[in-house]
Amino acid sequence: MTTSVATTVTSLMSAIADVGTDPSRGGYSRPVYSVAELELREWFLAEAAARGLDTETDRNGIIWAWWNPARHPLEDAVVTGSHLDSVPGGGAFDGPLGVASALVAVDLLRARNLQPRRALALTVFPEEEGSRFGRACLGSLLLTGAMDPDTAAGLTDDDGTTYAELCAANGVDPTALGRDDEALGRIGRFVELHVEQGRGLIELGSPVAVASSIIGHGRWRLTFTGQGNHAGTTLLADRRDPMIPAARTVLDVRRIARVHRGARATVGRIVPTPGGTNVIASRVDLWLDVRHPDDAVTARIVHEITEAASMAAAHEGCGSTIVQESLSGSVSFDPVFRDRLLDELPGVPVLATGAGHDAGVLAAHVPTAMLFVRNPSGVSHSPEEHVEDADAERGAEALADVLADLLTA
Ligand code: GLV
Ligand code: MN
Ligand code: MN
Ligand code: MN
Repeated sequence: MTTSVATTVTSLMSAIADVGTDPSRGGYSRPVYSVAELELREWFLAEAAARGLDTETDRNGIIWAWWNPARHPLEDAVVTGSHLDSVPGGGAFDGPLGVASALVAVDLLRARNLQPRRALALTVFPEEEGSRFGRACLGSLLLTGAMDPDTAAGLTDDDGTTYAELCAANGVDPTALGRDDEALGRIGRFVELHVEQGRGLIELGSPVAVASSIIGHGRWRLTFTGQGNHAGTTLLADRRDPMIPAARTVLDVRRIARVHRGARATVGRIVPTPGGTNVIASRVDLWLDVRHPDDAVTARIVHEITEAASMAAAHEGCGSTIVQESLSGSVSFDPVFRDRLLDELPGVPVLATGAGHDAGVLAAHVPTAMLFVRNPSGVSHSPEEHVEDADAERGAEALADVLADLLTA
């Protein structure tokens, strides 16, 4: 079919508003390949099919939906998209806004009777948040070869399921994961629209911004080991309780980060083993997220935290280890491409972000840009994340303006 489906970003977003709600945490929990994320993937495929787009899933589980009425070669296509997975208890917009806006942008381009001179693809990337397997942007890292496929295949979730097993269960051959030059070669330019995740656009008083950069970020796992024991019979003097150095380390993370201007450092997850109220833990795992615009400062911060953790552990007679799980350097988006977007969007401000995106991974390979849409709560990775309806439509129009320029060049 060639006719488009009359719709808006707001109507698309309300169609998925019940998918993956998490009553205990609030907001949405849509881990990659969970029932909820799979339902969203089906929703996207159905919306793409309703628009007559040709869909395929590549060997890294990335969905592609092609709008290519004149049957142009797929190389050098214009590509736009985002992700449908979420953090635990996340907001409605982080990811799905970019996907819904991409669908609406196709409708808008058709309504404008645009005659594209190249192919357009809408993409959905798996495991952008790294909420299930610990590696943010896993799909784009695999696509670009930045992640070793065997390492990815062996990652396990909290239930002990490997990424390989989950891929296989969802029709993605785990032995074929990894750098995909054919798929990558199709991306001439990539644009990701995303909800803004801080207060930047509130302060600028604008519904939309063009991204300048993403600050470098990484994840580390600290493990403290001690002596599991009885909470009632073990005298305080006799304890080697790994919860004590873990707790000290949480405070040290804040203290150390404060010294480095512009740093963000977070402990958002801490898991004691075995995890009983009347049990002194034998082990505590703690996950650290550190971000700074200067990658050398990030390294310095992590070094200082490692030393502090080791001292705190020794003080309690415990052991400590730290393992880097991921590290993405700071990304500056292509300034020439950015200026081209700004030419299409006069008066739109430029904004840096502290959040990571698949666009940041792709930026090392192809000209890449991002659009941000105002979030009036200034809060993200939380149920409070929000976008006003009018801003959502303005975002899709801005995306359509940008795509129109790129498709007709
Ligand atoms: C992902 O959204 C991140 O920035 O951690
Ligand atoms: Mn996101
Ligand atoms: Mn996110
Ligand atoms: Mn992100």
